[in-house]
Formats: sequence, structure tokens, C-alpha cells
Amino acid sequence: MDRQLSLEFVRVTEQAAIKSGRLMGCGDKEGADQLAVDGMHEAFSKTAVSGTVVIGEGELDEAPMLYIGEHVGAGGEAIDIAVDPVEGTNLVAKGKDGAIAVMAVAPAGSLLHAPDMYMYKICVGPRAKGRINIDAPVAVNLKNVAEAMNREIADLTVVTLDRERHAGIIRECREAGARIRLITDGDVAPAVECGIQGSGIHMVIGQGGAPEGVLAAVGLKCLGGDMQARLLPHNEEEINRMRAMGIEDPSRVFTIDDLVKGDDCIFSATAITDCNFLKGVRYFDNGCRTSTMLLRYKTGTVRFIDTVHRFGENKPIVKL
Ligand code: FBP
Repeated sequence: MDRQLSLEFVRVTEQAAIKSGRLMGCGDKEGADQLAVDGMHEAFSKTAVSGTVVIGEGELDEAPMLYIGEHVGAGGEAIDIAVDPVEGTNLVAKGKDGAIAVMAVAPAGSLLHAPDMYMYKICVGPRAKGRINIDAPVAVNLKNVAEAMNREIADLTVVTLDRERHAGIIRECREAGARIRLITDGDVAPAVECGIQGSGIHMVIGQGGAPEGVLAAVGLKCLGGDMQARLLPHNEEEINRMRAMGIEDPSRVFTIDDLVKGDDCIFSATAITDCNFLKGVRYFDNGCRTSTMLLRYKTGTVRFIDTVHRFGENKPIVKL
């Protein structure tokens, strides 16, 4: 993909964050999501790509915009697009940290077309690449990751969603001696942060959304991290949906290279609320300021982009 496009994708996640950030703490998660969708959709209409949404806001009958299969862009290279205009809608609604506007792109046919269902995921950073096994007990994975990172299990921090279904994982982590950070929502940001030394996160494990799994895989792949995943269809209808998306074996293990194929992908995330490495959107007189992380697999470039946006005619006062 043309690298000049990277900055265009930053504009897309920035617009989603700017629009939805206005509703921070307003208790209206659907409203925040709708504003982000509008922002992303409009930004895509000015982007020189022929994109197909493969991870989006749902099926055509569920979402009027950014639905799976929608063609977006002003024309150009054929690419797969995965979007989550607000990853962590509850976080925005409650004004809590960790919400991002996120997208990932890769050449057409490269991203897994993941149905909207749960996925079991295990994510680690580059130093633990090749040392995870989704079928092994949590304790074995912790031991191998600790060894690869040249530290004790007690010095590992594992992130998992604070859900009843994770009682077993939490117990196994505690018994093995790892530290745990329980999050209420939003497993994409911590999964990607595993790939950044100094994030204080060494593993993300548990069941979350499959679409979020594909987004996390692109971010982690760009950073040299590792991930394994398995879809968790709960009934016949979900198995049929998997099959309709071309996944025949319901128990198949997906490696990071199955989730995102090839050697060309780009990931952009703009913070809506504060995150580990990014500041949430800050609004002022006639503008606002955003923080974005832009990752490109081909070159391994990691960009932290701090942008001041102008609203209307008057130039905003830029402060350092
Ligand atoms: P939304 O942004 O759609 O609200 O999803 C947030 C999220 O927390 C994801 O990050 C995570 O993968 C999934 O929901 C977990 O689902 P559940 O809340 O059903 O456990």
C-alpha cells in the first residue's frame, strides 16, 4: 500500500475521536458511537482508496454506515478495512480511560473476515513471540512468557476483562503468581500496548469480541508481537455465520498471520479518552488536540502524532 495513505488513515480516526469525544461522560454510548461513525464515514469519503469494510458496525441490515461489505473511499488501491469507531463505548459514556477510535487496513483479502461473536485471545509483545500456545494452561503460557522476557512470573502483568466468564483465568493467573489488571471494557488498546516495552502490560488473555481481535492483531503485528485466537460460536446460528464467512472449522486456531496475512498492514488509533500512551481529545476555544498512534508493518515505523485541529475561521492558539 502507498505509504502516503498512512496519514489519511490518521485523519479518519482523528475525526471519529473528535466527534465522539464531545459526548464523554454523557452516558450516551449509542450517541457517541453514532458521532464517531459519522466522522469516520465522512473522512473516508475524502480518502483515495477503494476500501471494503470487512470488520465494521455490523451487517447491512444492522448498520446504515460502515457495515460489513460497504465500499468506502474516493477510489484508489483496493484494501480491506477494519474499523471500530468507538472501541469502548461504555468508557466514553462514563468518561473513563481507555477508549479509542481505531482502524486497520491491509491489501484486499488480507484481513480475517471475523463474524461478530466472542473470540478467545492471547496476546504478547515481541520478546515473547513464538512462546504462546492457546491450548496450553494459563500457567504454562505465563512460565514461557516470563522465561522469554527474562523475568519472574511475579513480574508479569496480565490484562483481562473483568467478567464472570474469566473466573478460571483469573484464578490460574493468581495461583501462578502473576499480577492482574482487570479492565471493564476495551481490550484492543491493552493488546496493542503489550507490544510496547514500558507499557507495563505483558499479556492480554480472555474472551472478547472477534472484530476487536482482528484490530488488535494488526496493531500487534506491526509492533512485532504475537497473538493466537479461536472463535467461540455459542450455537448453531453462530457456526453458520462463521461458515458464511468462509471459516469451516469452528475450533480452528488462528495465528497472528492468519488474522492478518502478508507483510503490509497499517494501524491507526486516536485516543477518545486518556490511554496509556495517548491523551484523550482536549477541546478549547476554536479547536481541539488529539493523540494518535500510527503503525506501519512494512517499515516498523511507530508514529505518535499530536495534532491541533482548527474549527471554523479563527486559528487556534497552539501551546506546547
Ligand atoms: P464496545 O466498544 O462495542 O462497547 O465493546 C467494547 C468491548 O469491551 C471490547 O473491547 C471487548 O472485546 C468486548 O467489548 C467484550 O465484550 P463483553 O462486554 O460482552 O464482555
